[in-house]
Amino acid sequence: MKIRHQFGLFAFIFGTYLGFMYMFLTELEPTLYDVLSEAFSNINHLPFNVSDECIDVVRYLDPGGDPKVVDLFLNKHAGKYPYIHLINYPNAVRVFHKMYHVLKHQFTFKRKVFELASQFVDLVGLDLQYEIPNPIFVGIHVRRIAYDHHLQITQNGSLVEVEYFKRAITALQDSLNLTNENAMNRMVFFVTSDDEKWCKRVFFDIEAVLFFPSDFYRKMPVVSKAHFDLCIMSLCNHSIYDYGTFGFWGAYLAGGHTILAHNIGTGNNTEVETIKQANLPNWHFIDAHPPPVEPKPDYSSLYRRV
Ligand SMILES: *[C@@H]1O[C@H](CO)[C@@H](O)[C@H](O)[C@H]1NC(C)=O
Ligand SMILES: *[C@@H]1O[C@H](CO)[C@@H](O)[C@H](O)[C@H]1NC(C)=O
Ligand SMILES: *[C@@H]1O[C@H](CO)[C@@H](O)[C@H](O)[C@H]1NC(C)=O
Ligand SMILES: *[C@@H]1O[C@H](CO)[C@@H](O)[C@H](O)[C@H]1NC(C)=O
Ligand SMILES: *[C@@H]1O[C@H](CO)[C@@H](O)[C@H](O)[C@H]1NC(C)=O
Repeated sequence: MKIRHQFGLFAFIFGTYLGFMYMFLTELEPTLYDVLSEAFSNINHLPFNVSDECIDVVRYLDPGGDPKVVDLFLNKHAGKYPYIHLINYPNAVRVFHKMYHVLKHQFTFKRKVFELASQFVDLVGLDLQYEIPNPIFVGIHVRRIAYDHHLQITQNGSLVEVEYFKRAITALQDSLNLTNENAMNRMVFFVTSDDEKWCKRVFFDIEAVLFFPSDFYRKMPVVSKAHFDLCIMSLCNHSIYDYGTFGFWGAYLAGGHTILAHNIGTGNNTEVETIKQANLPNWHFIDAHPPPVEPKPDYSSLYRRV
């Protein structure tokens, strides 16, 4: 899944922010441009290459580490440095959320991606038109492959289990005030994941109308699966995901209510923190793991007395 691994993406988004607010021009690394323009049709790109002289006077900026750096730079130093090289992982949602509409425009899916994903959503809508005339589409993204290790080393965390998604569905229903059973039955879930085998194995006991868009995709794999999945999420009315930037972007582009995890481990999770700082309306954090079960008092020794 190429998009996910492009940390430069956030540099680009931040660059777009700087461009929007301070008339900077954003130069994308060519590989990043290639990756993004494969999925999206409105990615900005300078029609020239930045010269070596420019690179020499560059100011390196890492807005990812500390949000104060972002403010300091933007408020006091903007204009002082004509060139900024954005480094590391500036996923500063709080900052770039101010230009949500610009991002929505830049991240307009390529027509062939959009058409395939829409075709799937329309087909499901048509299929359910008598049972569920007014469906509420919910994208669920499940991130797993090699992530256990990542969560372990970054925050002493571990992967969520299927019970997380059950709690998330309830939390979403609460958030939408879907109190009567009738309203709850309007929900239609689209599950995307990097480990669909796992999802198919464990999601069967979730009582919900649930689809795996990849079953449709496999018949017509004419675009990248990652682009298709992300587009499906963006078309949904609301979103549920566990963690990771792929789920974040799907939910962020969908723009509805979102349920995501926090307290994934005992350590700090910068990704979660940056999202919290953004105060996105209708984004709700629920615990990644259930509270530990109190061990039952052990009375067995009482009975062993002679
Ligand atoms: C920018 O540089 C790359 C190689 O470094 C080259 O392939 C490309 O054509 C250049 N683009 C422009 C607009 O000069
Ligand atoms: C890591 O998390 C476990 C619970 O999952 C906890 O028991 C342990 O104390 C934590 N380790 C550290 C170093 O915080
Ligand atoms: C749900 O109800 C609460 C309290 O009445 C209200 O503040 C909130 O806006 C409602 N949410 C939706 C999505 O209708
Ligand atoms: C829900 O999503 C579908 C598919 O994108 C869309 O056609 C519909 O207008 C959305 N409903 C609402 C209330 O936004
Ligand atoms: C976690 O990191 C965020 C952002 O850097 C910070 O605001 C917050 O205080 C930290 N929380 C803990 C418990 O260290």
